[in-house]
Amino acid sequence: MRDLMQWVGVPEAEQTAVLASPPDEHELAAAVAGLRRDLGSLDSSVTWRAASGTLPLYAYLTVLPEVLAWHAARRVPRAISHATMHQLGSRVRDGGVVRPYWFSRHFRGSLYRLGRLQFDRTARHGEPLLDVHIPGDGHLTPEACDDSLAAARPFFAEHFPAEEYKRAYCTSWLLDPQLADYLPEDSNILRFQRRFTTESVITQADDDIRAFVFDLPSGAELPRRTRLEAAIADHLAEGKHWHHVTGWLPL
Ligand SMILES: CC(C)(COP(=O)(O)OP(=O)(O)OC[C@H]1O[C@@H](n2cnc3c(N)ncnc32)[C@H](O)[C@@H]1OP(=O)(O)O)[C@@H](O)C(=O)NCCC(=O)NCCS
Repeated sequence: MRDLMQWVGVPEAEQTAVLASPPDEHELAAAVAGLRRDLGSLDSSVTWRAASGTLPLYAYLTVLPEVLAWHAARRVPRAISHATMHQLGSRVRDGGVVRPYWFSRHFRGSLYRLGRLQFDRTARHGEPLLDVHIPGDGHLTPEACDDSLAAARPFFAEHFPAEEYKRAYCTSWLLDPQLADYLPEDSNILRFQRRFTTESVITQADDDIRAFVFDLPSGAELPRRTRLEAAIADHLAEGKHWHHVTGWLPL
C-alpha cells in the first residue's frame, strides 16, 4: 500500500494516517469488486457514502495495478498513466480522504491526462466525445493547452481505435462569460474560454467556484488577493451568481 501511495504521490504525513485507519474489510471487498466491474466502462456503478473515510482511497489503490495493466494492454505510455493517476495522490487530505466520485473516471480507464488538460472518454447520442477537465496545478497557458488539444485526437485514435473522437466539450465555471467583465483580455482563463463555442445551458456554480478557487466552505469570508478572487468575491457580494457553462470545440 505504501509503494502505491508513493507512486501516486500521496504526501508522507497522509500516508501514515492512511495506514493507521484501514477501512472495513467487507466494505473494501465490495468497493473493489465494483471498481473491477466498472473497468473499461464509461459509467460507474460504485456508490460511496458521504463520510466514507479511507475506503475510496484503499479501494482505488487496490485496483491500481489492474488499471495500469489495462492501460498497458492498450499501449498507453507509462508516463501518461502516471500523470493521470498522480492527481489521486495530490488530492488526499484529512487523513486519507479523497473526493471519490471524481476519481471513478481515472479508475474505470476513461480519463487521461495529456499534458496540461485531462480528457474523459464519453458519448452522447452515440457520438464519442471527449470531456475536457482542467486540473488546478500551474497556469493554464495557451501553449500548454494547444499541445494538449493537439495530442488528444492522435492519443485516442492510437489507444482506443474503435472510437473516433472528433469533438470535445468542457463544462466549467472557467467558461462563464461574466468572467470577461473582470479579467484582462489576455488572461489565460479568457484565452481558454475563447477556444469554445458555448451553449446556452448553464447551471449555478457559486459553491463549486468557492471550492475550486478558494477551497473554503460556503459562508466563509473570501480573500481578494488576485484579480480572480476579487472578481468572484465582488460578484457574489452584489448578489449575482457564477455559472458552469458548456462549450464545444472540434479536435
Ligand atoms: C484554471 C487556472 C489554472 C487558471 O490559472 P491562470 O493560468 O493563472 O489564469 P489567468 O491567467 O486567467 O489568471 C487571471 C487572474 O486570476 C488569478 N487566478 C487564476 N486562477 C486563480 C486561482 N485558482 N486562485 C486565485 N487566483 C487565481 C490570477 O492570479 C490572475 O490574477 P492576478 O493578475 O491578480 O495575479 C486556475 O484558475 C486553477 O487552477 N483553477 C482550479 C482548477 C479548476 O477550477 N478547474 C476547472 C474545474 S471545472
